[in-house]
Amino acid sequence: MQIQWYPGHMHKANKEIKSSLPDVDLLIEVLDARIPFSSQNPLLAKLRGDKPTIRVLTKTDLADPAITRLWQDFLEQEQAVKTLAVTTKHPDKIRQILDLCARMLPEKAAANKVIRTMIVGIPNVGKSTIINVLAGRIIAKTGNEPAVTKQQQRINLKNNIVLSDTPGVLWPNLESPYCGYRLAVTSAIKDTAFQYDDIALFALEYLLKNYPDQLQQRYQLPELAREPLTVLEAIGLKRGCLRAGRQIDLNKAAKLFLTELRAGGLGSISLETPEMIVVELMELATT
Ligand code: G4P
Repeated sequence: MQIQWYPGHMHKANKEIKSSLPDVDLLIEVLDARIPFSSQNPLLAKLRGDKPTIRVLTKTDLADPAITRLWQDFLEQEQAVKTLAVTTKHPDKIRQILDLCARMLPEKAAANKVIRTMIVGIPNVGKSTIINVLAGRIIAKTGNEPAVTKQQQRINLKNNIVLSDTPGVLWPNLESPYCGYRLAVTSAIKDTAFQYDDIALFALEYLLKNYPDQLQQRYQLPELAREPLTVLEAIGLKRGCLRAGRQIDLNKAAKLFLTELRAGGLGSISLETPEMIVVELMELATT
């Protein structure tokens, strides 16, 4: 998957969302539970107004449950927003979206009126997976090249709910450089200017502060160094990522570490908390 966000493309998506929104009763905004802020589309946050919105936090099997709970409370502070934390491991929870739609629009539901919903999310967040579970059949290809799924789909679901797909491809929150890194750590941005070792060092610095035990356990490190680079070298050595002359191959070690982190090999890890984001945004505003 290769995604580039150009001003022209953003302008087009902006226009498409703006023209679709008036015909929508309720938004289903899909966010990655590990990075609920970085995986938000900033335009949607502005255009939503107070339209009823379900923020679906996906991939919760990979996220820290305590932090997911914090995010749910934080996100629900906004008017007309409810959240659901889901994972493909429990499709029943994903299907609860439909009951929540009906509960959020009780008058329409009671009158048996059609509830028009639109599912929105940045590429790779898990949108197609949710569409397939809700539809009960495979209609959206997962792990797909985002630019290829161009035709906007409309699907009839139970509770008189009509679900339409995002028009266009939405970009993530790139407000701060940290967001870009976090998106890269989760592989939401797969092809960027980042180097593997850059992304791995960013992730290691965060893990050293927030999840040192998981790091130490996974790589059976007798001691945990304070420097991310030293830890990456230790991982490389442990896993035999070596070049000629027994030199540690940092790129190989970084790739291995990121692959394991992304697959949940280090346990359930969230990469941002509401508190961190508030501080980062304040810092940004003063620079
Ligand atoms: P998108 O439409 O928003 O672009 O996302 P999509 O559903 O294609 O999901 C992107 C990747 O995330 C897929 O993996 C999918 O399997 C994975 N995924 C979705 N939901 C969950 C979840 O709850 N937990 C975990 N662990 N993974 C999830 P992929 O490797 O890119 O594709 P595939 O080979 O699995 O189809």
